[in-house]
Amino acid sequence: MHHGIARYLKKLTHAPLNNPSRILELGSGTGAWSVETATTYPEAEVVAADMSPLPETLTLPSNVKYKQMNFLDPFPFHPGTFDVVHMRFVMIHLPKPDSYIRRLASLLRPGGWLLLEDVNHTLLDAHKPIGPGVQALYRGYRQHMRKQDVDPGVGARLKKMLETSREFSEVNEIVVPCYMNPKSTKDPALQELGDILKFSIDGVYVGIMDKVGPAGGITPEILRGWRREVNDPERDLRIDMHLTWSRKL
Ligand SMILES: C[S@@+](CC[C@H](N)C(=O)[O-])C[C@H]1O[C@@H](n2cnc3c(N)ncnc32)[C@H](O)[C@@H]1O
Repeated sequence: MHHGIARYLKKLTHAPLNNPSRILELGSGTGAWSVETATTYPEAEVVAADMSPLPETLTLPSNVKYKQMNFLDPFPFHPGTFDVVHMRFVMIHLPKPDSYIRRLASLLRPGGWLLLEDVNHTLLDAHKPIGPGVQALYRGYRQHMRKQDVDPGVGARLKKMLETSREFSEVNEIVVPCYMNPKSTKDPALQELGDILKFSIDGVYVGIMDKVGPAGGITPEILRGWRREVNDPERDLRIDMHLTWSRKL
């Protein structure tokens, strides 16, 4: 996913980072963003934080430090000490995501950048009503997400959340459409990103099905119906990715 986004953006972020000296990635996952950022800014110290360890096979540049932590606990960092805080595809996993904006802002020095990025986990169709396969899958998926108090549509709310917090002097956003049907766009980078996202969310649904079983609301039959529709060449389905960059007051 990281390389798909980087190939589309042709850079790490649209924010003018200049020469940051302390960078924090919350939810480092595979470590791909932290490693690329540390390589781009070799003078900076990069902290990669996550509840899961980084992959053992990853070669870490010497300016990356890993910190294991749970974001539900108080942050173990001094407030106002980071030039950049990056958090991608994590808000969608956090209960009551709105409560995090102030906490994230508190980590930044004045003028520092918060790079908050997430999907609106909702398939949109430019031309047709959503079909029964997607609807059936969403019933199960949303039921699963609601039980955990998380918001699958949080990506679409990020900009508003950031603006209403009054913690930032500017809030910027681009919306990247990730198409399920490669014919929906001529841009090869967007075609690739759509393919990656489709593969990735398919894995999420398989994971829910395996973990919580039929009671979780996603059965193999429902998943097959969803796959049929997202791969239907007559449909124009997409999921929007919201990338924001905001400057701390
Ligand atoms: C979907 S992955 C995104 C990884 C990476 N940011 C990326 O863009 O590829 C979400 C990551 O957030 C981490 N995560 C989710 N909830 C967390 C929590 N409460 N505390 C710490 N890490 C968490 C997961 O372990 C996982 O690595």
